[in-house]
Formats: sequence, C-alpha cells, structure tokens
Amino acid sequence: PRPILLTRHGESRDNVRGRIGGDSVISDTGELYARKLANFVEKRLKNEKAASIWTSTLQRTILTASPIAGFPKIQWRALDEINAGVCDGMTYEEINKNMPDEYESRKKDKLRYRYPRGESYLDVIQRLEPVIIELERQRAPVVVISHQAVLRALYAYFADRPLKEIPHIEMPLHTIIEIQMGVTGVQEKRYKLM
Ligand code: F6P
Repeated sequence: PRPILLTRHGESRDNVRGRIGGDSVISDTGELYARKLANFVEKRLKNEKAASIWTSTLQRTILTASPIAGFPKIQWRALDEINAGVCDGMTYEEINKNMPDEYESRKKDKLRYRYPRGESYLDVIQRLEPVIIELERQRAPVVVISHQAVLRALYAYFADRPLKEIPHIEMPLHTIIEIQMGVTGVQEKRYKLM
C-alpha cells in the first residue's frame, strides 16, 4: 500500500517571531529540517518512481521541498495556510490586545470562527476537498508539505478524527506523519527528525 507523508514546512522566520500567516522564508533551523527531510524522503521513496511532492504556493513550503531531488513537485493553492484576514502577520498577543472580541470569539469556537476577511477551519476543510479526492486517487506515494491548520484537517480526514477536534490536534514542526491505507484500516507512523 502507498504511503502518504504529511509534514509542516521547516521553521519559518515568522514562526520564530510568533507571527501568524504571512509568506516568510525559512530560518536556518528550517533549512536544516529541509535537508533532513530530503534525505529521509529520498531513502524512504527510493524505488517509488511515480511518487510526487505536493506543496502550498507559499515560500516556506516550496523552500522546504527544494532540497528533495528526483520527484516532481506540484503547488496547490488549496494547501496554503488558513487565511487570517485582518490578523495576518500579527502575534496572538497582538490580536488579544488590539482585537479582544475577535480573540475571545476564536477561543470560544475555533472550528467555526472566521477571521474578518479571512477563513475559518470549516472553510479550510471545504477547500481541501479536491486535494483529498486527488490524494485518494493516487496510486503512488505523495509527500504533502503544508501548514499547521491545513495539516490538522488533512490528518483528521485520514485518521478519522471528529470535526470538533480538528483545530486542537497537535501538529508539531519537523515531524513526518506517515499514513498507510490498507485493507485493515489506516496505520500511522511518526518520524521526528529534529
Ligand atoms: O503559527 C503558524 C501557523 O501556521 C499560522 O500561520 C496559522 O495562522 C496558525 O499556525 C494556525 O494555527 P491555529 O489555528 O492554532 O492558530
């Protein structure tokens, strides 16, 4: 059975500063992860000629994929991080201070809360539908390099987790979640590369 490998991008400059959204490049630590990931993928998928690497359209995922050699890379806008609208580029602390009502509404119902001029988790889940259909259709392995909120939603789909849990699923940096779909159900392995 073909594996699906899910990973967040390597640590970004905005991750270091605690800023959400944006389109920053990866940090030195993030670059180290990119090299380790390439090593891992090239070994793990050595005999998988038809495998492919899927990223979002944001720099941090494209840069994370860049050291991986030997597989086609495809960019999906649907894999871009949740759009934080007017809060894009802010820290959680700044949102709490400058827009306390927004901060509270999100805390109360993170699944349904929609950032002003941005998205909710439910919006993200909906826009991922074509990606999921395409993932299900693939016969070869796929490496998905995306973002925290998007990967929570994708992971929940394959691991059959309830909707209300999605915004709270732990999705650490620098970790690969390997999902295998077999006849007996879904199996999962985790590789923490750093
Ligand atoms: O902080 C990294 C990040 O990917 C942000 O860009 C995004 O807004 C956030 O995580 C999503 O996580 P949460 O829904 O927990 O705020």
